[in-house]
Amino acid sequence: MTRSDIAPALADLSSHRAQLDRLRTQDLFARDPRRFERFSLRLDDFLFDFSKHKADARTIELLVALARAARVEQRRAALFAGEKVNLTEHRPALHMALRNLDGGPILVDGRDVMPDVRAVREKVAAFAEAVRSGAIRGARGDAMTDIVNIGIGGSDLGPAMAARALSPYCAPHLRLHFVSNVDGADLADTLKGLDPAKTLFIVSSKTFTTQETMANAASARKFVADALGEAAVADHFAAVSTRLDKVAEFGIRPDRVFGFWDWVGGRYSMWSAIGLSLVIAIGAQNFEDFLRGGQDVDQHFVSAPLDRNIPVVMALLGVWRRNVWGEATHVVIPYDQRLARFPAYLQQLDMESNGKSVTRDGAPVAMATGPFLFGEPGTNGQHAFFQLLHQGTDIAPIDFLVAAEPTDADAGHHALLVANCLAQSEAMMRGRSRAEVEDILDKQGLSKHEIAALAPHKVFAGDRPTSTFMYRRLDPRTLGRLVACYEHKVFVQSVIWDINPFDQWGVELGKELCNRLAPIVQDAAKPTTGLDGSTAGLIGWRRTLSA
Ligand code: F6P
Repeated sequence: MTRSDIAPALADLSSHRAQLDRLRTQDLFARDPRRFERFSLRLDDFLFDFSKHKADARTIELLVALARAARVEQRRAALFAGEKVNLTEHRPALHMALRNLDGGPILVDGRDVMPDVRAVREKVAAFAEAVRSGAIRGARGDAMTDIVNIGIGGSDLGPAMAARALSPYCAPHLRLHFVSNVDGADLADTLKGLDPAKTLFIVSSKTFTTQETMANAASARKFVADALGEAAVADHFAAVSTRLDKVAEFGIRPDRVFGFWDWVGGRYSMWSAIGLSLVIAIGAQNFEDFLRGGQDVDQHFVSAPLDRNIPVVMALLGVWRRNVWGEATHVVIPYDQRLARFPAYLQQLDMESNGKSVTRDGAPVAMATGPFLFGEPGTNGQHAFFQLLHQGTDIAPIDFLVAAEPTDADAGHHALLVANCLAQSEAMMRGRSRAEVEDILDKQGLSKHEIAALAPHKVFAGDRPTSTFMYRRLDPRTLGRLVACYEHKVFVQSVIWDINPFDQWGVELGKELCNRLAPIVQDAAKPTTGLDGSTAGLIGWRRTLSA
């Protein structure tokens, strides 16, 4: 049973859907010549167009009523007030404090966290500038040429995504690398060709216990110690963590340790010192612009009316498609090659946050929660999985992202890129009817028989919902805005589903079982008794293959 406070609003939306079923989205444009203006939202140059959704003014009204019934405004206030909204871990979720450049104090347990936030930000900026200028040198006196961030999940995806997104802003004399996987191939391939004397490793881990990161950090430490001697480790490592005690055990100099706080979730941490590698790459000023983009969206999110609020509308459209139309997938297609890692970044943000089956108080959740999310840059995706998006039996709403202007790229190519993006969203909405197909084939001179055989394959149902973000260019501030929009979208959806988006217990079981299996995998003499037949069989087969 759906939670009782929102059940009437959801029922209204279901009946409303039945009315819209009779229409095609295109008809909504015919009815309202100002539909684009009415169904798009702006933060100066940053525009979110949702006019190609099957939604009218009544839909938005009903969705806003749903948000009010779920108490989105009250829960947003609690989030920003630093209440312990992460109930299972008894913590606030205050990543907004990290980009609070112009605002006042932010209290956690009655204490203003802003002085600490600013102090770490300044320490990060000073260290990053010293690496960039060559003032920080390795054990043999060389300036650093290569920076390797070792981290996984939230301690990897954000900076890795952003460094690629902002490559035109990156210092040309520094190469940035990201190692995350416990697969030794990741580190080995990265280290190939690196000069240890000119390489700085940044070990990024909120907990400083994550198996993958600790294994990679230990191997990187050996790489430095073998080449330059044990004493060189201090000159070639820095660390970012909330667990300063554990960092000290690893032997990293205190002046190269950058802290953050348990009220910053891993997948919300790229705004913190976890962004160190990114700050080294793009410089402190560009990083501040990125933070400013996040702050722009925070200010918009807390002040804009719900029906003109970009993250709220993104969230409500997602709920509309997930819970009223029953679609289980959400697709994000950046028409920007430099945003190639953005879908992967969003996968953690969205799926680790809202992939939950119980409500905040532990009861089974009565409605579908977070969708599967995937994506790839356009135009590449068009030549791979778009077939299914256009003609498959399932519908998946799509977000397109595109810049009006290129950054450091050919303007002619960019015009083609934009045209492709717009063509895809148009095709998703418009489709192509059987009559249109038959007419085209007839004009091409096909016989009646040939037309009858081919036409069904060329029909596009259309009415596939898409939203489009269009902004001037992909600069640090725009990237900050994009990330913050998705963060708050995820939060608003969690409120409607009444789930905790800030914990991630679902990742624990696999970690625990791995700790139990690792010794058995490592030592062929260890018995597999007590394991299920498949796991024991696979371990046995591996032993046969590697004997
Ligand atoms: O296993 C999931 C997770 O805990 C993520 O939530 C987190 O971002 C990632 O692992 C890395 O954790 P840490 O920064 O503590 O190494």
